[in-house]
Amino acid sequence: MKISTGKLILILLIVLFEGFFVTSVKAGGYSSEKKPGKAGGESSEKTSEKAAGDASEQTSEKAAGDASEQTSEKADGSSSKKSSVKVPYDYSANIECVKEPEKPLYGGGIISAASAGGKKLAAPIKGSVLKVDLKKDHHYALSAWLKLSKGTGDITAIIVPPDGKFITAGAIVAQSDCWTLLKGGATTSSEGKGDLFFETNSTAEIMAESIALQGFSFEEWNAHREEVVAKERKKKVKITVESGGKPLADAELSVEWVAKGFPLGNAMTQEILDMPEYEEWFAKRFKWATMENAMKWYSTEFEEGHEAYEVADKMLALAEKHNISVRGHNVFWDDESHQMDWVSKLGPDKLKEAVARRLKSVVTHYAGKVIHWDVVNENLHFKFFEEKLGKDASGEIFKEVAKLDPKPILFMNEFNTIEQPCDLAPLPTKYIAKLKQIQAYPGNKGLKYGIGLESHFETPNIPYMRGSLDTLAAAGVPVWLTEVDVTKGPKQVEFLEEVMREGFGHPGVKGIVMWAAWHAKGCYVMCLTDNKFKNLPVGDVVDKLLDEWRKVPEKPMTDAKGVFEAELFHGEYKVTVKHKSLKEPIVQTVDLDSTKSEATISC
Ligand SMILES: *[C@@H]1O[C@H](CO)[C@@H](O)[C@H](O)[C@H]1NC(C)=O
Ligand SMILES: *[C@@H]1O[C@H](CO)[C@@H](O)[C@H](O)[C@H]1NC(C)=O
Repeated sequence: MKISTGKLILILLIVLFEGFFVTSVKAGGYSSEKKPGKAGGESSEKTSEKAAGDASEQTSEKAAGDASEQTSEKADGSSSKKSSVKVPYDYSANIECVKEPEKPLYGGGIISAASAGGKKLAAPIKGSVLKVDLKKDHHYALSAWLKLSKGTGDITAIIVPPDGKFITAGAIVAQSDCWTLLKGGATTSSEGKGDLFFETNSTAEIMAESIALQGFSFEEWNAHREEVVAKERKKKVKITVESGGKPLADAELSVEWVAKGFPLGNAMTQEILDMPEYEEWFAKRFKWATMENAMKWYSTEFEEGHEAYEVADKMLALAEKHNISVRGHNVFWDDESHQMDWVSKLGPDKLKEAVARRLKSVVTHYAGKVIHWDVVNENLHFKFFEEKLGKDASGEIFKEVAKLDPKPILFMNEFNTIEQPCDLAPLPTKYIAKLKQIQAYPGNKGLKYGIGLESHFETPNIPYMRGSLDTLAAAGVPVWLTEVDVTKGPKQVEFLEEVMREGFGHPGVKGIVMWAAWHAKGCYVMCLTDNKFKNLPVGDVVDKLLDEWRKVPEKPMTDAKGVFEAELFHGEYKVTVKHKSLKEPIVQTVDLDSTKSEATISC
């Protein structure tokens, strides 16, 4: 479509590409000719090869452990970024309990075939540990296929680095008639001989196969994240500016992020309603939000029958004013200690009625206005509703919420799943089992599900976080970090940055919301600002990441062919074109979240 503006016809032709390395047919039809020359011939050839479906060969290559060669090829292909990935990280995870274990990842890594791989053997347990040679300052990715000689039980993997401190590297629920994959890991700060062993809470013997322990320097680990960011969070864009049918050379562009892209949000409190400085600080940064407490049952119906939505309504109106998307938090909270007295006292029949009333009330009140619902908060740690209403209470509640508000993604929301492998209640394998139970409830098949991970960290175990995200992402539903914070301590700032980067750098994670809601009398565990809304160091880190993840090119210009090429983060951008032949700048909105590979914009 061309629209004539007097004598001038100006066309912005936007061609979008997936990030650096188009690895699968998923990318569908991005032809290599259109690939910006910057990436070089070798790369485009490789891409078209891949696109042609040669993926299976490639994968078997990987499995054979030839990965390092492959990556250096990749690194050569891209002249714009030097990648220090020697061994690519393997994000795969089979979440089925299987008859035969799969081959070890990374060919076993530093676990030699003689010590573990190939043979079925009793797993190393305390007293018969597996000795491993560990390097200093490395992230170790651990994976193992495990089963028990009888029954069902929890199995925990322990890594003891040379300095002697025990690190819980991961944990799963294992069975006796099939093998379950554990993914996790540990970070070392000393060099030398270490131990690896497994423990169980059952009296059964543990069997282990295909144990793999692969070390990565911190640099390599970061390079994995960068690869994911290039592939999952960015797009190559080609903007062609034409005027009167001819390319407009040397046009000045300005590109400004306005909306969409990777969701990065924060929790808000009702204090925002009366404090313009809070509102301004929040709206300047965040386009996604969760109300800390205002939508919870105890906020909207503290006294039975007296519903009060004024606060939440005003907060939602404020969010709408600033184009902020809101997560609905929450319909129910399975924690007994957070029920009102009047709810705790109800017998099963009366509770059932009260639950139906609450559900209908809050969900219809906000239907169509929230992007997510946290449906039954923390139903792995707690089971108030399951105990009173039956084991399928969560499944039933999901079904009813979906009936009244079909658009939002319906989330489970849980703490310690990626933060803390010592807490066995919310383990990734248990999370997936609960999700499957909810999905299997009659009528729940086609619902939109989400995995909410609260992410309240103390000292993060980054390899465990990644391994757990691998497992959870294999469920095939969007994963969000919903309540990110880090407790106070000398490394709070550093840990927060690590956790945020790990989330942003994982292909399964589709959004991050922080739990740094401001209160005059102090925040839950982490305030981003002081009481004058001046950033604290954690706030500075968040701003740094926001800038980095919405970064636009400096002083973009079209070349002699009227073309400007760049790699931009997903999002919606305002593109302004200035040129001496134009009376007025042309302003266009470009939506890089659209899945279209090509777009023509006329002005
Ligand atoms: C061990 O773990 C399993 C699986 O989580 C659990 O069902 C069982 O109750 C636990 N056993 C003991 C003795 O704690
Ligand atoms: C509001 O957000 C939507 C989608 O997130 C976006 O398309 C739109 O341009 C935004 N509007 C403003 C005024 O920023």
